Amino acid sequence: MKKIIKTPSESETIMTELVFPNDTNPMGIIQGGRIIQLMDIACAISAQTHSGRIAVTASIDKVSFKTPARLGDILTIKAKITRVFNTSMEIHAEVWTKHLPDMKSYSTNEAYFTFVALDESAKPIKINPITPVTKQEKENYKLALKRKNKLTN
Ligand SMILES: CC(C)(COP(=O)(O)OP(=O)(O)OC[C@H]1O[C@@H](n2cnc3c(N)ncnc32)[C@H](O)[C@@H]1OP(=O)(O)O)[C@@H](O)C(=O)NCCC(=O)NCCS
Repeated sequence: MKKIIKTPSESETIMTELVFPNDTNPMGIIQGGRIIQLMDIACAISAQTHSGRIAVTASIDKVSFKTPARLGDILTIKAKITRVFNTSMEIHAEVWTKHLPDMKSYSTNEAYFTFVALDESAKPIKINPITPVTKQEKENYKLALKRKNKLTN
């Protein structure tokens, strides 16, 4: 059977969200957990698009917030697979916020998620490899192995 080669851009996911009152604290700043939830969803879409399987979050690396997103801001959440291992894959998630009225885009935060693909019995299952194409994708692919070794050793 022909081997399926997939590139990171084929499963890249970009979501846009508006910050509503339900998402914020009394100062109108978005809750960190809400941003992580949106990143998790974008990563799940990438993971499941690439693997064709239900995939669950196994870990999230350090998350720190740079610029606050506020009520009424427009958020952009991007998720892109950096590397597929055996049954797991690492995904880089980034978030930007745009404030009114100038609509300038500010980087809010980024993180690396690890997702594991599951079979019908909820057991980890082997995933198709991914082939990095751009210089940045090749660099991320290399560094992903270092991050995995740090996580699992
Ligand atoms: C993630 C999970 C499926 C791993 O199952 P497991 O039986 O421990 O599987 P294994 O030990 O065989 O590991 C499977 C893969 O997951 C990776 N993995 C397991 N735990 C991990 C962790 N905490 N961080 C990063 N990767 C992890 C392993 O390195 C392995 O990767 P590889 O096959 O690509 O080399 C299982 O622990 C689980 O279901 N966790 C709960 C997931 C969940 O509910 N997430 C939602 C948030 S609560």
